[in-house]
Amino acid sequence: MSGAEALPIPRALVETLRGARALAALTGSGVSAESGVPTFRDAQTGLWARYDPADLATPEAFERDPKLVWEWYEWRRKLVREAAPNPGHLALAELERRVSRFTLITQNVDGLHQRAGSGGVIELHGNITHTKCSVEDVIVEDSAPESSPPVCPNCGAPLRPDVVWFGETLPAHALRAASEAASSCDLFFSVGTSGLVQPAASLPFEALRGGATVVEVNLDETPLTRSADYVLRGRAGEVLPALVEATYG
Ligand code: OAD
Repeated sequence: MSGAEALPIPRALVETLRGARALAALTGSGVSAESGVPTFRDAQTGLWARYDPADLATPEAFERDPKLVWEWYEWRRKLVREAAPNPGHLALAELERRVSRFTLITQNVDGLHQRAGSGGVIELHGNITHTKCSVEDVIVEDSAPESSPPVCPNCGAPLRPDVVWFGETLPAHALRAASEAASSCDLFFSVGTSGLVQPAASLPFEALRGGATVVEVNLDETPLTRSADYVLRGRAGEVLPALVEATYG
């Protein structure tokens, strides 16, 4: 189905969106897939089809082989720099302009929501385009790397990507803001996420408990599917623009 054809957007959802005062959206790597950024678990194209995350996205892996981990992230950073926001990102930025309260919560580290014009993005898992000192945990502006990984200009420790690795805790302020938005909104979208990684995967259920209408936009079934009020099965880059078009014309 081409994006141009009007996808079947339920009339009741359009009315709910028109009347919504507080919206929240949780996105995962599926929203960036159409920008050419690999997802995690899609077997044929997912990042992990080729790499074992335990070998790369953990503090232990960085301790064991900082050069390998750093270079894997440099490869991912290059992918992200060459990627552009897709119509799914742009539709979410449009929704933010249309409703009085909109909170975008993402598990993605690619910064594409911000490049699409979304503001106040809550990055639960950090941002791959930022670098921090692995000891002082403070952001270090990109310096010309003389080594791989480069070292902190302040203390000499290796620099690392400012992302959450397996076994690490999420930024507390981000998680608190995300939970507050989920439990107080009246319409919650879960877009392009397999819903397998906690605590992000609990946010749509917090929204349900808070009385929100929950919409899943995803290619495949997830643990949320059976609980969602609406399931729009398709590509985010097609479904979200169709939803915006059906609601605001
Ligand atoms: P996954 O790869 O687990 O899930 C991507 C989901 O997006 C799948 O359910 C796909 O069906 C769906 N999908 C793929 N292309 C899509 C498209 N064009 N439109 C809509 N849906 C599409 O990625 P995440 O759920 O984001 O965490 O993974 C969550 C976390 O797991 C990541 O943030 C990462 C990983 O551990 C950390 O690295 C801490």
